[in-house]
Amino acid sequence: MAKSNLGIQRIHSIEVCVREAEPWLDYLTKGFGFQLVAASTGPDVEQTGTRRRLLRCRDIGIVLAERVHGGSTAGRYLERHPEGVSRVNFLVQDVKAAEEVLLERHATPTDFVRTETSDGGERRELCIATPLGDVEYGFVDDVEEAALTLPGMEPAGAFDPNHNPLCLVEIDHLTANMRTLMPTIAWYEHVLGFRRQWDVQFHTEDFKPGFGTGLKSVVMADEESGVRIASNEPLRPRYEQSQVQAYVDLNRGPGIHHVAWQVEDLIQAVDHSRSQGIEFLPTPREYYSSLQGRMTTQGIGSVSQALEDLETRGILIDGDRSGYLLQVFCKDQSVQFKRPEAGPLLLELVQRCGATGFGEGNFRALFEAMSRS
Ligand SMILES: [Fe+2]
Repeated sequence: MAKSNLGIQRIHSIEVCVREAEPWLDYLTKGFGFQLVAASTGPDVEQTGTRRRLLRCRDIGIVLAERVHGGSTAGRYLERHPEGVSRVNFLVQDVKAAEEVLLERHATPTDFVRTETSDGGERRELCIATPLGDVEYGFVDDVEEAALTLPGMEPAGAFDPNHNPLCLVEIDHLTANMRTLMPTIAWYEHVLGFRRQWDVQFHTEDFKPGFGTGLKSVVMADEESGVRIASNEPLRPRYEQSQVQAYVDLNRGPGIHHVAWQVEDLIQAVDHSRSQGIEFLPTPREYYSSLQGRMTTQGIGSVSQALEDLETRGILIDGDRSGYLLQVFCKDQSVQFKRPEAGPLLLELVQRCGATGFGEGNFRALFEAMSRS
């Protein structure tokens, strides 16, 4: 299978099921520069039992789906899971054409194509079930390229395309955690037509016998659009103690563990988010004392940023001879909102300086640093 043939252009939006939208709205607008652009119409809320709000920053969309009553899709999701990603919407050229390809490949739609006609043209939406438990994948299109809405919504405010305080570029990747990878990898390949782009596995048993844990990660990509989704499974020994299983336990099933946004300048982005109250995962000091040696071993050449500036912000570095990347993880939502039911989803910010990987070297380096400190 050479191409997905789904006409995917990019990820349109990530949909998060929430109990209350207010803290999320505050978090995303102040901390990351998102703007509220559309919201469910009254009749749509009545019909679906879910109030959806679309936030945007550049081309990056987030839908907050707030349950209005328990029998709704959002209500059912929240009965089974803490708050988290319930749907990933892909923007495609033509939903009907994508549906034809998906049905040929035995995809499982959760409903018929929803079509909505407005002044701007016709918008359509199709949802399919995935091997990721209650996470669905959606396909949306719009004839008016700049349309900032979804079926069932109406504009909720003016959108300023230049408002982007973190200089977000695009969604870099999504990462999902599950107990076993193969059903998901095979589904990406045979149903979505994605290709295996990258994989890694490691275990830290060798560094600290009797304590280490490990994971295997595979990245599947849509070659036409460059959309990339990583999937992780735990490795033995101590399978049940791995961070991947810890997420599955907290989420009460497989799901999207993190969403990574690419930024132009990570130092500036971290400074802005921090000033707005966003908390990042701390990095042990030991990580930086062994950094220079690690960079030499990995073949990372010169780095434009001062290492001191990275250390004071807890920014991680990884890479190889082709270049490097800088990355940082926010604390998960249950910590940010101080409520366990806000869930284990977290956000990653990444600045790419030539590297195409996903920071695999940092998993091990962080584990080793924590073991030494
Ligand atoms: Fe990541």
